[in-house]
Amino acid sequence: MTTIKKTAEGKLLIYGATGYTGTLICHEAARRGLDFEIAGRNQHKLSELAQQLRVPYHVFDVNDRASWEKSLRGKTCLLNSAGPFSQTAELAMQACISHQVHYVDITAEVEIYRLAESKNLSAEAAGIMILSGAGLFSTYDPLVVHTARRVKNPVALRAAFQYSGGFTPGSIASSANIINAGILIRRNGLIEKLTEAESSEFDFGAGPQQCFPTPLGAVVLCYKSTGIPNIEEFFQMALPASEESDHSTVQGGEINPDKVEEPSRILAEVTGADGSVVRSMAIMRAGYMPTVTAAVEVASRILNGFCKAGFQSPASVYGEALLETLEVIVIDL
Ligand SMILES: NC(=O)c1ccc[n+]([C@@H]2O[C@H](COP(=O)([O-])OP(=O)(O)OC[C@H]3O[C@@H](n4cnc5c(N)ncnc54)[C@H](OP(=O)(O)O)[C@@H]3O)[C@@H](O)[C@H]2O)c1
Repeated sequence: MTTIKKTAEGKLLIYGATGYTGTLICHEAARRGLDFEIAGRNQHKLSELAQQLRVPYHVFDVNDRASWEKSLRGKTCLLNSAGPFSQTAELAMQACISHQVHYVDITAEVEIYRLAESKNLSAEAAGIMILSGAGLFSTYDPLVVHTARRVKNPVALRAAFQYSGGFTPGSIASSANIINAGILIRRNGLIEKLTEAESSEFDFGAGPQQCFPTPLGAVVLCYKSTGIPNIEEFFQMALPASEESDHSTVQGGEINPDKVEEPSRILAEVTGADGSVVRSMAIMRAGYMPTVTAAVEVASRILNGFCKAGFQSPASVYGEALLETLEVIVIDL
């Protein structure tokens, strides 16, 4: 057996460890030599995974306060990968505040980012960081910071995410929450909910493509990192090119969002006060692996003591340099 050198000082708890993404996160954490334990509500799956990874495990429902206390004892950070996060984040954040443990999750639900923002003062008082959205936004948010730096006094952001890959049941359940949030934009510094909004064209490199207004979360997270007062965001799903890649979705009983080869892309367009417009694009692997590597990178930094108390976004704490540690290509257009 290979002995892996521990690369971080603190100890991590991964809740929701046996979901599709949680399991990948656990394997990545083990590969990187992090010191961690796993948790969730399914005894059978947890004991199997714990045996494979040779780590301790905790079985409990998210509303079980005594178990949070026990499982968070001696931990530096919780990585919550149990979604939909509308069912898990608030109780997990509360447990982290009570037991002074940093909180990270991989949610894509914008209402959870707003929830995290609302916990700013209690997180500061507890001396912990709450970083919700360490998945997609670990690329998206630093990309926006990078793009915003290319103009003087950035006043507007339009961003589009072209996703390539499938979806797990957890993501499908979460997407209902994303849609139910309505179309959120930021105008003159304030979040507004629109009843209707038009689609818009973005060129990811193969000509203009229609993208749909979607509340991905930049109105909260990129506002935190850049303070840009006007933000709109759009989404486009790259459809599977062949029947084989159809299996990357949950169709046919097989769950593998990572089977698609075409990369995902994020395009950020920032306008400066003088009217100049700049665009930068991030190109990354399809599917969920970018989330897995980013979440473990963020957790590892926290275990090594790199964090800021209060509500943070990936770039508000780690800046655009976070991109350098991820498998992302950034192009200034
Ligand atoms: N933004 C991103 O970049 C990104 C990328 C990937 C995933 N995600 C999000 O991460 C979440 C998990 O995705 P996944 O792919 O792992 O989905 P999944 O394979 O369906 O797994 C969901 C996990 O969450 C747990 N869970 C669900 N509701 C729970 C509750 N009320 N209490 C405790 N545990 C609960 C499940 O536990 P049981 O097995 O006991 O049901 C399971 O471990 C989703 O919300 C997804 O949208 C975000």
